[in-house]
Amino acid sequence: MSNIRSRIVGCGSYLPERIVTNRELAERLDTSDDWIIARTGIKERHIAADGELTSDLALRASKQALGHALLEAGAVDLIIVCTTTPDDTFPATATRVQAELGITEGIAFDIQAVCSGFVYGLTVADNFIKAGQVETALVIGAETYSRILDWEDRGTCVLFGDGAGAVVLRAGTSDAAIPGEMGWGQAQGILSTHLHSDGRYRDILYVDGGPSATQTVGHLRMSGREVFRHAVTDLAAVAKESLDANGVGIDAVDWIVPHQANQRIIDGVARKLGISLDRVIVTVDRHANTSAASIPLALDQGISDGRIKRGDLVLLEAMGGGLTWGAALVRW
Ligand code: ACO
Repeated sequence: MSNIRSRIVGCGSYLPERIVTNRELAERLDTSDDWIIARTGIKERHIAADGELTSDLALRASKQALGHALLEAGAVDLIIVCTTTPDDTFPATATRVQAELGITEGIAFDIQAVCSGFVYGLTVADNFIKAGQVETALVIGAETYSRILDWEDRGTCVLFGDGAGAVVLRAGTSDAAIPGEMGWGQAQGILSTHLHSDGRYRDILYVDGGPSATQTVGHLRMSGREVFRHAVTDLAAVAKESLDANGVGIDAVDWIVPHQANQRIIDGVARKLGISLDRVIVTVDRHANTSAASIPLALDQGISDGRIKRGDLVLLEAMGGGLTWGAALVRW
């Protein structure tokens, strides 16, 4: 078995300038700041400017992640953009990011696993690295959900925002433990990832458009209560699966960086796992649900404000349309 392990060596993010508050939405929709905060924890979201594309957001986050990793773009041999809101039906948004970064070699493609996209992308990149096929990978979660929302539907349009986050992965060896107090002597990097999907639940969260079915882009449709129920159960289960696979308990986890869909889902999962909310990175209040971008955006927040430190054990978990869900356990 390969002793290569993927290390996360850089992280970056980007949010569009324009902030839309709940109050602003309440001026044109039958909703209120109080309702949105009580049911979701969301106070505001960022919305991309006219003409600002998913690839633009992805590029800004990527440049920041490469800068954080102290790497030139030329070092990257794999680019994965995790998105449900690509610039075009094809080519992949990742190829546009590749071109904008001035890279003319290597691999670039998109992954579509909705809100679980980033965990899926991280898994695919990790497998490329562990197989020895690439040395350095850029995994980006980038979304412009504002383009697929039905702005007349108060049940969905208040929940989402636009943004991007990115990480740089590099091949290292699995026995390269970090110096210092390594309690139970784990190596640094992605320890394991765990993915699931169950297409029977397609109809509880989907977009009613697409090139083959309708030749339109469509709008997001959701049965909120059903999604909520699955989210809490499946996220707690996959988090537990990742802990069991590594032989550790929840007490060993320094930080959970969950997909940011709803504060009540985050609270419910933390309660099921028995972890204090003090050890959960939360950005849903300011970013809303940015789908595949939400985990790298929250990760970047936790790293840049100094809460997540080198050597910390970090659990990432997400669930989204499909249904898809997954988790990754990472020694930062
Ligand atoms: N403002 C005011 N009232 C509203 C709004 C709104 N924005 N949206 C819905 N309502 C009303 C409904 O019309 C309904 O009214 P009624 O009782 O007169 O029929 C009432 O509020 C209750 O509606 P529910 O949908 O039952 O409310 P619920 O408590 O389930 O909250 C919510 C809705 C917030 C969508 C919740 O179900 C949820 O968060 N689900 C998870 C979905 C999610 O996060 N999806 C993101 C994508 S998947 C993922 O990322 C995991």
